[in-house]
Amino acid sequence: MRAPIHDTLGRPLGALRMSVTDRCNLRCSYCMPEDDYVWLPREGLLDFDELARVARLFSELGVDRIRLTGGEPLLRRGLPDLVAKLLLLETIGEVALTTNGVLLDSQAAALAAAGLRRITVSLDTLDPARFQRLTRKDEHARVLAGIDAARGAGLAIKLDTVVLRDVNDDEIIPLLRYAASIGAELRFIEYMDVGGATRWRRASVVTREEILVRVREAFGAVEPLSGRGSAPAETYRLPSGASFGVIASVTAPFCRACDRSRVTADGMWYPCLYAARGLDLKAALRGGATDDMLRALLETAWRKRDDRGAEVRALLPDREALIPASALRGDPHLEMHTRGG
Ligand code: GTP
Ligand code: 5AD
Ligand code: SF4
Repeated sequence: MRAPIHDTLGRPLGALRMSVTDRCNLRCSYCMPEDDYVWLPREGLLDFDELARVARLFSELGVDRIRLTGGEPLLRRGLPDLVAKLLLLETIGEVALTTNGVLLDSQAAALAAAGLRRITVSLDTLDPARFQRLTRKDEHARVLAGIDAARGAGLAIKLDTVVLRDVNDDEIIPLLRYAASIGAELRFIEYMDVGGATRWRRASVVTREEILVRVREAFGAVEPLSGRGSAPAETYRLPSGASFGVIASVTAPFCRACDRSRVTADGMWYPCLYAARGLDLKAALRGGATDDMLRALLETAWRKRDDRGAEVRALLPDREALIPASALRGDPHLEMHTRGG
């Protein structure tokens, strides 16, 4: 086992989020509110061999956790095969998946059979009509069926809820009760001003403090749990013993502990969700670079990493959407849905 590689802020090269497609079958208002999008050209997408090679190179540099993301990753054909392929790599300890759940009903069993153990499903509401307003698709029942299928397949489930003021902030308690009823851990996420969130306004953010106040009103004391490590969520225990998390990327960014980076489906590597520029791994891969050359490229770039995007944003006095829709159309790599949420 080699020594970890640290960036300029002493953060090790840790988790890798690999997006397998930029396409999505929902249009959540906090991520994809526009009417049309510019997509990555299909021929530019890394194939499974290329993705596995990227995963292996990162894992040889210290990455032991891989999370597959999208867009919506279940739109990528044959995803269970990719999971199995990645798990064949001895250096990868874990592969997890973040999904909106729409296609999970039909794929949960195959994913579990391929070796997947953990899954994160986005769930912002328990109300079908509200789901349709929020996502512009009438798919709520399929998401719930997908969650059921994941349970049936024995997958450990986390639920992610982006809390939006006057949209779903009245569901904090019902969602917690639902999560407890299925044995899932729910994490509330502050609405972030990432690329893609073109309708972001400070006033729409429901802060961690507000969320905790409401949970205390309903359940009594909530006890903070220690041992967060590099995870974005702060976790808390309810008197019932159930736990939940809050990802406070707006009011209390976790940048100082952030060991994650992300690769887009077409092989651009970004050191931060907010990074303006990435490194073109596909050009290196398809240009004939050797493993040694690629590892050197990754190591050099990580050692120079000084990103702390959410923290820098938090210091701004007046904060608006990060990137206007017109600029996003010019470069879809700036989109959260391309970078993998
Ligand atoms: P585990 O720790 O393995 O459970 O995964 P995770 O929490 O990293 O995965 P998940 O995909 O569930 O991430 C949850 C949410 O946290 C994302 O959808 C984003 O909203 C937010 N998030 C994830 N990564 C970052 C990041 O690097 N920076 C910031 N600011 N927010 C992030
Ligand atoms: N703010 C917070 N989280 C977001 N996600 C996407 N856009 C945003 C945003 N503006 C995250 C959510 C969602 C996942 C796919 O990406 O967690 O569930
Ligand atoms: Fe990591 Fe950048 Fe997110 Fe901060 S904003 S937690 S540095 S990805």
